Amino acid sequence: MSSPIPRALLYVGGTVACLLLIPPAAIAYIRSQSSPGRPVHLIWDMDNQAKYKAQEENPLFADGRAARPIVAGTVAMGEANLDTHFTEGVTGPSAEWATTLPAGLVADETFMRRGQERFNIYCSPCHGFAGFGDGMVNRRAMTLMNNSSGSVDNTSWTQAKNLHEDQIRAQPIGQIYHSLSYGIRTMAGYSAQIPTEDRWAIASYVKALQRSQNAAPQDIPPDRRTQVGSEEAATVASAAPSDQANRDGGHDRQGAVNQ
Ligand code: HEC
Repeated sequence: MSSPIPRALLYVGGTVACLLLIPPAAIAYIRSQSSPGRPVHLIWDMDNQAKYKAQEENPLFADGRAARPIVAGTVAMGEANLDTHFTEGVTGPSAEWATTLPAGLVADETFMRRGQERFNIYCSPCHGFAGFGDGMVNRRAMTLMNNSSGSVDNTSWTQAKNLHEDQIRAQPIGQIYHSLSYGIRTMAGYSAQIPTEDRWAIASYVKALQRSQNAAPQDIPPDRRTQVGSEEAATVASAAPSDQANRDGGHDRQGAVNQ
């Protein structure tokens, strides 16, 4: 019985099959060895790029380093917070709370109006338009907390502070600025949403609100005292429909939660 395939062909085929095993074996061997040269890279894609990485050598420079030192006087974006009065609300070597506005800011009418507008947007929901801690969000939360069946979803709520408390009224403007910028206890900070200058405008407005609740006649410039007197008389005369006053955005003290 002779096989249908010629014997010679079997020999040749067997030899070729054995030879074909050599290249993969050689490749596997070479891959398993370490080599000082670059790996053979047939398709480069973006594996090797014409650039230097940190810590690499670069003969172009005298010191041979590819990574260059920072040019003297360089300030990275967002890192120029050298004026700590402006950015942190503190002054002096012992970082006392600033009692004045930082240089360059002036508490003129535009600035105060800006502060009022920003306060009404960002702070009034909790602290109320006049700062008594009676904002709508706060009122709603307090109602939910004081449910007869316990607080909703077992959450808790910290009463927004009445900004006219003695302890807060005594705070320098820098401290108010710092609290609203970086947060205080359970209150979150607003530095991410509100630009720095606007935060100073808000702090100024908070101080103005506080002052407004304890103003003496001497606080009014002499030339405007008579004017205020007559306005007050006019207000008292027309004060009867308190609904109207509320609708006009008057600060609604009756509704204050913490009274
Ligand atoms: C989401 C509600 C909420 C908003 C909005 C909010 N606050 Fe408050 N604020 C609180 C709460 C709550 C406290 C009391 C935190 C505590 O005692 O844990 C507080 C406390 C304060 C205090 C007292 C700090 C102290 O030393 O006791 C100041 C000042 C203040 N907020 C200013 C602001 C200003 C200015 C804004 C607007 C930029 C603002 N808050 C926005 C809830 C809020």
